[in-house]
Amino acid sequence: MPTPRIVDLGTADSSVRYQAAEVLVEAFPHANGWPTIEDATNEVTDLLTPERRCRAALDGDDQLAGWIAATPGYRGRVWELHPLVVRGSARGQGIGLQLVRDLERLLVAEGALTLWVGTDDDLGETSVAHLNLYPEPLAHLRGVRFAPSHPLGFYLRAGFALSGVVPDANGRGLPGILLSKRIG
Ligand SMILES: CC(C)(COP(=O)(O)OP(=O)(O)OC[C@H]1O[C@@H](n2cnc3c(N)ncnc32)[C@H](O)[C@@H]1OP(=O)(O)O)[C@@H](O)C(=O)NCCC(=O)NCCS
Repeated sequence: MPTPRIVDLGTADSSVRYQAAEVLVEAFPHANGWPTIEDATNEVTDLLTPERRCRAALDGDDQLAGWIAATPGYRGRVWELHPLVVRGSARGQGIGLQLVRDLERLLVAEGALTLWVGTDDDLGETSVAHLNLYPEPLAHLRGVRFAPSHPLGFYLRAGFALSGVVPDANGRGLPGILLSKRIG
């Protein structure tokens, strides 16, 4: 795919915002995600508040290929990336990475120092699943292994560093993995 056009999701037309909800359902249809278009539409609406940043990658026909959003914390020094999703048929073409880079540029211009993301392991796709991570959760995180289907590899490729693990975040033995990146 040629370089996508990346625009503000909030000012994109309503069909693009609807497609943003559709790709959430496509990528996260399980109970911890957005099983229905109504759930996903509510999520998109919640994220389109002025303090957040939501960016959409459009293909040559101005259809949504993927989108990303971020929420500020620590007085704008630290932003949480959530969510990031690329339409199934558009994956593996560099769109996810371009969305992350675009977001970083935007946030750096606003004085951000750190971007972080939590990536769930709710399907047991990493070596930190199905374990009691206590008393030293970080010892398990070091050298974590993961299936190619899990987005951890994507975030490491995008320059994020492993920075934490939340035991049982998605149910007993199903953690959330935290990564962060210095930006700017
Ligand atoms: C994760 C996701 C956003 C990646 O988007 P994408 O557009 O397919 O990724 P890109 O094509 O930009 O990949 C960039 C690089 O990361 C690598 N990469 C992508 N996914 C990867 C994975 N799961 N494991 C390891 N490496 C991966 C690519 O090979 C590519 O490497 P290269 O530049 O050396 O060729 C996409 O797969 C997706 O939407 N998944 C479902 C939703 C999801 O899991 N979101 C994250 C929730 S925390």
